[in-house]
Parts: sequence; structure tokens; C-alpha cells
Amino acid sequence: MFYQVYPLSFKDSDGDGYGDLPGVTSKLDYLSNVLGVDALWVSPFYSSPMTDWGYDISDHRDVDPLFGTLVDARTLIDEAHQRGLRVIVDYVMNHTSNLHPWFVESRSSRDNPKRDWYVWRDGRDGGPPNNWVSVFSGPAWSEDEETGQWYRHTYLPTQPDLNWRNPEVVEAMMDVGRFWLELGVDGFRVDAAHQMMKDPKERDNPPAPPDYPRPYKDMGEYDRFIHLYDFGHPDVHEIHRSFRKMVDTYGDDPLTIGEIHIFDLPEWASYYGESFDQLHMPFNFQLMATEWSVPALRATIESVLWNVPVGGWTNWTLGNHDELRLASRVPPGHERLAALLLLSLRGTPFLYYGDELGMRQTFVPSEQSRDPWGGNVEWLSRDGARTPMQWEPGPRAGFTSPDGEPWLPIGPDHETLNVQTELDDPSSLLNLYRRLLALRRESMALRVGSFLSHPASSETVLAYRRESDTETVTVVLNFAFEGQTLSVGSGKVVFSTLDPERADPVKNGLELAPLEGVVVAHR
Ligand code: GLC
Repeated sequence: MFYQVYPLSFKDSDGDGYGDLPGVTSKLDYLSNVLGVDALWVSPFYSSPMTDWGYDISDHRDVDPLFGTLVDARTLIDEAHQRGLRVIVDYVMNHTSNLHPWFVESRSSRDNPKRDWYVWRDGRDGGPPNNWVSVFSGPAWSEDEETGQWYRHTYLPTQPDLNWRNPEVVEAMMDVGRFWLELGVDGFRVDAAHQMMKDPKERDNPPAPPDYPRPYKDMGEYDRFIHLYDFGHPDVHEIHRSFRKMVDTYGDDPLTIGEIHIFDLPEWASYYGESFDQLHMPFNFQLMATEWSVPALRATIESVLWNVPVGGWTNWTLGNHDELRLASRVPPGHERLAALLLLSLRGTPFLYYGDELGMRQTFVPSEQSRDPWGGNVEWLSRDGARTPMQWEPGPRAGFTSPDGEPWLPIGPDHETLNVQTELDDPSSLLNLYRRLLALRRESMALRVGSFLSHPASSETVLAYRRESDTETVTVVLNFAFEGQTLSVGSGKVVFSTLDPERADPVKNGLELAPLEGVVVAHR
């Protein structure tokens, strides 16, 4: 299982209120020995003016002083490796910061040799070159008064898009990848991996009719258009092939997982490449876009697995730094079912920091808001899912020093939902995750086994079988507020989301308490 560390919010080692790399290193024992994860994805810690909290990089080969130094990055990677943890880092390929020296040069004049490293165009009728809007709202183009042209930015105006149709850009960015692989990282989470290539003719997007289906969450102004032309032009696959080729020169180990926000599954799956020569995995966000009900979840799970090309491997996630906290998206009591679901599907699970504690979305008042997206529009702002990790009870939750001022407020639920308190409570969510991870480590069926929906599934019960050469288990999740008795064949309960001691044999029927999930081992 992968664990996503958002380093700004994980652990502050120097009392400035921002989490940092030595802070992450100091918590590796928690991650590997206490929780028991296999790998980490560490969100950006590169030099950055922090207009998008590190997703606006001004030097790809250095660490921002907020997080520490390159030596701290190397120490984190080495210490993680000593504990058998893999580390992947963000590779932000679509854009840089506007303060990156490449853009500073590019912007300096129309004939600068780096002009074409970004996307510069003349305006149309005194306005932007076309009607594309930024993911964060507002036009996707900003005017540069000095040179009288517009540059494109899929995100903030401080995040100009690189021009991946320029071979010099491709080479320079491959070098960035090499730099981190040389430093020892085990691969990359590729940011905005479908965005770089857009319609070469730069045609206007058609407006979306009011009832146009949204595949995902409400995206504000971005939803006013049908995004035919502003992402995923077919030559994006060429870029992923080149990137993969470079990564593969470092052996079979390094992993590439790309942020592909595409909900059309065949198109999503095309990012594996026809001969598996692109991303190892496109990130699978489907569960987060699915209504939390058994029929909807079941349909999603089956269609994702159906669409993963034969020989390919997928992944599952229920939270990240861009989404509402899991515990606030599912009904009360369902965090436990969500944990079992995430860790028992066929594919690599990705868990967002704090979700193992049940941390909820924190209300962040607009005067304390840090996210450039949404500002005080609560449903857009991502601040509430990025509040400090809750290590212990007390005013700073063990995140920063007693007089440190955390960069975002500490969640009001931290007195009960924190590592220290939950470790002492056998029935806590944290202990559930620990038991589940231990079970998964021992179970070939859960790790790599096949997946088959089980006939015991109903409107309120999700049941599936996982099978390896040597082992068969059935996973049963009861979404109902009533107990149920189901026929799943004989075996033994090896895990329950509610009762850590449960280990009864199953003969004539499996008894499930309301909202209970279990794993039954058959052999
Ligand atoms: C991705 C990141 C998000 C960031 C954006 C721009 O979607 O996950 O946090 O704001 O890219 O880099």
C-alpha cells in the first residue's frame, strides 16, 4: 500500500508551523512499523514561491528552504529504504512556476531562445487567444504587457504551461527525472499527466448545456465548457512513451503513476500504452466519483477492472490533497467499510495521510485560507483536507512545537482522532488499518489474487471473492443498518471491521452485524 504524505502538513521539525522533510523522516517508524505501509508518495517539496503550495516549481533540482535541503531529501529517501519503504515523488510536467528561470527568460522577449519553451500566442480581438478556462477558473491565458502576447496556463497564472512540443523542453524535463532517479527515488507520481498536449489548432471549447453530465465533482467555471480541445490530444501518449523509456533505463523498479483525470474508462486506460510502454498506471479516481452505495460501487469496481488491459495492474484511492476528506464524504460509520474496501480490491491502494485516523474535513475560515483555488468558496477550497496530521491530543496535536503556529488550523476532532489516543484503543480506526495491513501482507489472495463479484451481493451487501493459487477469501461489506445472514460457503472469519477478536468458523451462514465488513478465508 502507498501512503501519501503531504509534507507541509505531516510533521514540523523546526517550529515554523510548516511540515518539513526532517519531520517526515522522524515519522518513518510510524509509517513502516506502526501502520505498516510499503511505500510513500511525497507531494512536492521543491523550490517554489508556494502560490500553489509547491505545485509551482521554480527549481526542480533543489528543495525549498521551508522543507529543508537536498541533504534532507536524500536522508529521507535513504532512511525510508533502510526500512524497506519505497519513495515516489511528484513530477510536475505540465507547468513550472512563473519564477522558474526558464519562464523568466522566455518572457523576457519575443526572440529569446526559450520563448518557445512555453506557449505564447497573440490575443484575439483584444482578449485571450481562445475561450479555454483554467481548471482553477478564469481564462487559461494571461497577457504579458511587455511583449504584447498571451501565455497559456492550465492552472494559475503563476503556473505557465511548458510547451512539450518543443524537443528542448522534453530533454530538459527528462533530465529533471534523471536527477531524482539518480538521487534514489523509486518513481514518480506524474502531476496533471493528461494536460500537456492540447489541440494544435487551439479551437474554442463548446459551451456545456446546463444539464451536461459532470463526471466528477463540481468544478465551478470549468464546468461551463465541454473540454474537447484543452487536454489529452493524442500526441500526449508520445510524451509518456519517451518518459517511460527514460525511466526504464533505471531498471524495472521505478514506478510511474500518472494523475489522469479522465472518467471515460477506455480513454483512461489508453495511458498504459498498447504495449505497456507508457505509464505503469494511470491513477484511478473512479471510487471518488462514485455515489456511496453498493450498486454504484459495484458497477464502478467491475467496470474499472474490466477496462484495465489484460496484463496491466491498477490502483484504488479514496482521498488525496485535492479532495474532500474521506471521513466527511461517507456516512458516519462507513469509514471502516471504506478501509476494508480500499485494502481488499485487486490493485494497489493509495491512502491519504490522516485518513487512517478518520480525520474529517476541517472548516477553514476564509481569513485563514491558503488554497489559491476557491478561496472562501468552501466546496472548492482544498484547505480543509490539508490540515496538520494529528499525532496526539493537545493544542498543536503534536504537529509543531508548543509555540509554533500551524500553517492551517488543527482539526477540531484532534482530541480524539489522533495517533496516540487511537493506538491505545483496540477498536480505533487506526488499529483497524493496522490489522488490515497485516492481513494483506500475509494474504496472497488479497495482494495479487483474482477478483470476482460474489452472488451474495445485493442492494446493501457488497461481496467479492479474491483468489490466488493457494488461497481463496471472500470479502463481505454490509452497508445496511440491519444485521444479515448470508451464504458464502464454509470457512473462517479472519477479519472484522467491528470486532478485532472475531475469528468464528463459517458453516451454514455468515452473520454480519449492521455496517460490518468481514473477510472469510476458505482455504
Ligand atoms: C494537480 C495537483 C494539484 C495541483 C495541480 C496543479 O491536480 O494534484 O494539487 O494544484 O495539479 O499543479
